[in-house]
Amino acid sequence: MTKGYIISFEGPDGAGKTTVLNKILPILQEKLAQPILTTREPGGVVISERIRDVILDINHTEMDAKTELLLYMAARRQHWIERVLPAVEAGQVVIMDRFIDSSVAYQGAGRGLDKSEISWLNAYATDHHKPDLTLYFDVPSELGLARIEANADREVNRLDLEKLDMHQRVRQGYLELAKDESERIMTVDASQDLETVVDATLGHILDHIGK
Ligand code: TYD
Repeated sequence: MTKGYIISFEGPDGAGKTTVLNKILPILQEKLAQPILTTREPGGVVISERIRDVILDINHTEMDAKTELLLYMAARRQHWIERVLPAVEAGQVVIMDRFIDSSVAYQGAGRGLDKSEISWLNAYATDHHKPDLTLYFDVPSELGLARIEANADREVNRLDLEKLDMHQRVRQGYLELAKDESERIMTVDASQDLETVVDATLGHILDHIGK
């Protein structure tokens, strides 16, 4: 059994990680000469997409922070078992748009829940797996929020309604994670123009994937 390779894309809302992912995908596919599985959290499989709808429904304003965390974890578990793990076991490269670090940044730093408990739940949901490589797209909160507002096509979800200070705490959470796990997490300055961000992202991936 060959082991695959998991890359996660992380960052505050408005960092542009999904746009970058769509840009690098065809280039990376050609360079690696193999199909790459891309998927997203929360969601990616039917059950997790349904949990996603519950989490992100703008009407669910009474949702408790721990309920929110546990729903993300439930979505994560199902997505992991049904989609990600089989691909990794088949030797595939998987790129995930958000994964375990989102819970530490959003529910931990953002909502103030205990980070060690979140790490425990992450390990429980993924049977102790972590990404081989994480790209963290860093952007100042004001710029991230301005980008969200400028993007008319983007669906507005419950977390988009949070105020600037929540976004700032999320960013701080990511910066701390990137410092604590500097071997795994590579920071990309996502305030730069798209082409520069795409090049930096490809550079990190191609540097790491062969090792
Ligand atoms: P989404 O529309 O996918 O946002 P983005 O395109 O920025 O990834 O919505 C996902 C939202 O869920 C986003 O605001 C981040 C949040 N989130 C958490 O709070 N915790 C988590 O564990 C995950 C996976 C996402």
